[in-house]
Amino acid sequence: MGFISYIKEEINVIRERDPAIKSNMEVFLYPSFKVILRYRVAHKLYLKKHYFLARWISQRAARKTGIEIHPGATIGKGLFIDHGSGVIIGETAILGDNVTLYQGVTLGGTGKEQGKRHPTLEDNVMVSAGAKVLGSFTIGENSKIGAGSVVLEAVPPNCTVVGVPGRIVRRDNTKIPRSDMDQVHLPNPTLNDIKELQIENFQLFEELKDMESHMFCMEETSNGDYHVKDKCKQCKENLRKQIEEEKKQNETV
Ligand SMILES: CC(C)(COP(=O)(O)OP(=O)(O)OC[C@H]1O[C@@H](n2cnc3c(N)ncnc32)[C@H](O)[C@@H]1OP(=O)(O)O)[C@@H](O)C(=O)NCCC(=O)NCCS
Repeated sequence: MGFISYIKEEINVIRERDPAIKSNMEVFLYPSFKVILRYRVAHKLYLKKHYFLARWISQRAARKTGIEIHPGATIGKGLFIDHGSGVIIGETAILGDNVTLYQGVTLGGTGKEQGKRHPTLEDNVMVSAGAKVLGSFTIGENSKIGAGSVVLEAVPPNCTVVGVPGRIVRRDNTKIPRSDMDQVHLPNPTLNDIKELQIENFQLFEELKDMESHMFCMEETSNGDYHVKDKCKQCKENLRKQIEEEKKQNETV
């Protein structure tokens, strides 16, 4: 593609995706436009193993735009980086066509992997402001990563991912209920039963202790009845209530 048609395409990309732009000339002020132009040159040098020169161009562009694209990254057509500041694209990241990134996005590694360490973003992926996508997995086409999310696992196509760590809240335009998404903390009926039994057992133990403490307050009389010794007021009170209730029941009968 010639330089002029490349510029025309960039103008279209920015005008399509940023409603704030008012004229074609403004495109030349966009950090996204400046950095991608320099990345294309740096990437060609990188492929020809002119690593130092490639890094030199990329670092100068990073200083000017706040967007650091490693010259080793593979980027398709129509990338748009809105606002730009604080964006990092790692060496082994692969971006498909028409990807959109906002400010503060990191396409980075976790520090635990060797070789391909950075994510692959398929066509039409959008990564919102401040989101971090860390590791060498794939974000499927048309997926959206919500602002401030931290994505650590692969995402299938047509999904929306939000939160820290990122979880899928929408797939194929259908909301995924929160309760269905927890695959780790599954209910454990056996443990729940054991907990209920423990509580019941504790209550029974307390009742038994109480009964035991009043057992010696009762005395059997010669006619086989029980009466309470003088010292326990509580037992006397209980017995009085019991007699009253029995009387009431007899009256109603
Ligand atoms: C993720 C996003 C793209 C919306 O995608 P969507 O597919 O339309 O998803 P929805 O708006 O239906 O949201 C789905 C759920 O995720 C929640 N959600 C959306 N964005 C979220 C975020 N960034 N963090 C946490 N939760 C979020 C919603 O509240 C909703 O929850 P609910 O189901 O309990 O109601 C959008 O919310 C977002 O983050 N945009 C940021 C764009 C940006 O960076 N702009 C900067 C311009 S300078």
